[in-house]
Amino acid sequence: MEAPTPVAECCVYDSVAYPGRPFAQTHPDRLATMGALFGVEAAPISSARVLELGCGDGENLLPMAVALPDATFVGVDAAEGAIARGMQIADDLALRNITLSAETIESFDRSGPFDFVIAHGVYSWMAPEVRDSLLALCVRVLSATGIGYVSYNARRAPPCVRASGRCCASTPRGSRIPTSGCTRRGCCCPS
Ligand SMILES: C[S@@+](CC[C@H](N)C(=O)[O-])C[C@H]1O[C@@H](n2cnc3c(N)ncnc32)[C@H](O)[C@@H]1O
Repeated sequence: MEAPTPVAECCVYDSVAYPGRPFAQTHPDRLATMGALFGVEAAPISSARVLELGCGDGENLLPMAVALPDATFVGVDAAEGAIARGMQIADDLALRNITLSAETIESFDRSGPFDFVIAHGVYSWMAPEVRDSLLALCVRVLSATGIGYVSYNARRAPPCVRASGRCCASTPRGSRIPTSGCTRRGCCCPS
C-alpha cells in the first residue's frame, strides 16, 4: 500500500475548502467606532486602506469592497485555491478595489500603510513564530492612526469541536496532518 503523503498544515486549506463569510466585527466601520471609544480617530472608512491576513476566499473582504467602492482592500492567504476562488468572484463582480494574493503572512513584504489590518480566525491556529510575524507585520504596516483587529480563541474548543477536529485531521486522500510532538495543552491533535 502506498504510504500516506504528509500535508503541511497551511496547505490543508487547499485540500479541504474552508468557505468564508463576513464577520461584522471586523468591518472598518465597527473598528473605527471602537477606535473612537478608545480615543483614536481612525481614517475615514469611505477611502480606507484595508489589509486582511489569512483572508481565505475573501468572503469577508468582498462585501466590504462592494459597499465601499473608494476604499482599497488587500487580502493575503497561503491557500492558493481559496485565493483563486475569491479573485474569480471579484472578477465576476468587476471589482477593481480588491486584490487577493496567495502568499504567507511571513513573506508579506509590502510596506503599506494600511488604515485597518484584520486577522480573523488565524492567530489561534498558528505556530508561535508565525504569531510573532503577524503581530510584527501589523506594527510595520499600520498607519499612525491605524487599527488592527486580531481575533483569539481564549477558551479551548468544546468536545464536539474537538471530535470533529479529529475527524478532519484525515485528508480526503487518507493522509494525516503531521502532529507528532504536539504538546499544546488541550490540543485536539490526534495522537
Ligand atoms: C481557520 S481559516 C480562517 C479563514 C478566515 N479568516 C475566517 O475567519 O473564516 C485560517 C486561514 O489562515 C490561512 N493561513 C494559515 N497559515 C497562514 C500563513 N502562515 N500565511 C497566510 N495564511 C495562512 C489558511 O490558509 C486559512 O485560510
